[in-house]
Amino acid sequence: MTFPAVDFALRPSANPLPAEQREAVLAAPGFGRHFTDHMVTIKWTTERGWHDAEVGPYAPLSLDPANMTLHYGQSIFEGLKAYRRPDDSVALFRPEANAARFQRSAARLAMPELPIDVFVDACANLVRQDLAWVPRGGEASLYLRPFMFATEVALGVKPASEYLFMVIASPAGAYFTGGVKPVSVWLSQEYVRAAPGGTGEAKCAGNYAASLLAQAEAAEHGCDQVVWLDAVERRWVEEMGGMNLCFVRACENGVPTLVTPALTGTLLPGITRDSLLRLAGDLGCRTEERRVSVAEWREGVADGTLTEVFACGTAAVVTPVGEVRSAEGGWTVAGGATGPVTTRLREALLDIQTGRAVDPYGWVYKVA
Ligand code: PLP
Ligand code: COI
Repeated sequence: MTFPAVDFALRPSANPLPAEQREAVLAAPGFGRHFTDHMVTIKWTTERGWHDAEVGPYAPLSLDPANMTLHYGQSIFEGLKAYRRPDDSVALFRPEANAARFQRSAARLAMPELPIDVFVDACANLVRQDLAWVPRGGEASLYLRPFMFATEVALGVKPASEYLFMVIASPAGAYFTGGVKPVSVWLSQEYVRAAPGGTGEAKCAGNYAASLLAQAEAAEHGCDQVVWLDAVERRWVEEMGGMNLCFVRACENGVPTLVTPALTGTLLPGITRDSLLRLAGDLGCRTEERRVSVAEWREGVADGTLTEVFACGTAAVVTPVGEVRSAEGGWTVAGGATGPVTTRLREALLDIQTGRAVDPYGWVYKVA
């Protein structure tokens, strides 16, 4: 079945936040605490497909208590950033890649797939409408949160026949308070995030709900984040709560190797991860996507063959991992400092994202 192309209506907010208050928010935005004046909504029904696309005032939703999402959790999301560039233009980073992943997440949760161009237009239109909310300077950005959930009112367990797609936007400073200071991680040996055949490679709300107890355990052990191991052998490093992991192996003939866990189906295929693999190759590193065991991590750090470890994701960009803790003890990576390959990759990625450097890859999508 084909549906007509989606046109966006604009219904501007009657009471946007006054400029002075907005500037106060932008001066110290934190992460995910403040939202812009508008939001995108697009409805989907079995009969009409995607329809009623609108950029309208940011406002609370009213939900029926029998809304299927509240009971059975058909809910997926994305995260991407808009950066203000030195020439004052504003660009998204690889929005088509987020759109494609959103389609894969939808397919896994038996939800309808939003066309790539509609996803990208939805993000671009919201940024254009709330342009004044894109922070200036440094690494600050406007974080976009596209998401979709079931809106059918029914208690039968089945894919819903109605959905709402939305985009909201939130100005963002650093995800981890304290800037690029290395983070500490807790190896979760009791809980697992995703098993083969499960939803690990989908960006669905339930994956995050299932991670919270382990994240709390990490915090109890004084760690910033949890590291997930594979569900079967509890031996292979998968990813972190909201980031992928990369390891740097010492130089051979002056060439370091960037190693990152292979996409086995149980971890999220990060767009930052994918971008860094490309950048690392072009910056003269070897790259490997393969399984990495906890033993390789521990022994590599001990014998000096594994020199740096970092986390990467949209919210956190590139953040070094300085310390690892687990029930069996812990170890320090790179003396708890940020290594040179981590620094170089972080800079190279941010240079492209913020427009400080030319983008040879076609990753930057200008919206204004
Ligand atoms: N892994 C998980 C579980 C995530 O939530 C995220 C963030 O979206 C990532 C990895 C990194 O993905 P990306 O680089 O596309 O933001
Ligand atoms: C992101 O980096 O966009 C994430 O989704 C991580 C987290 C905020 C869930």
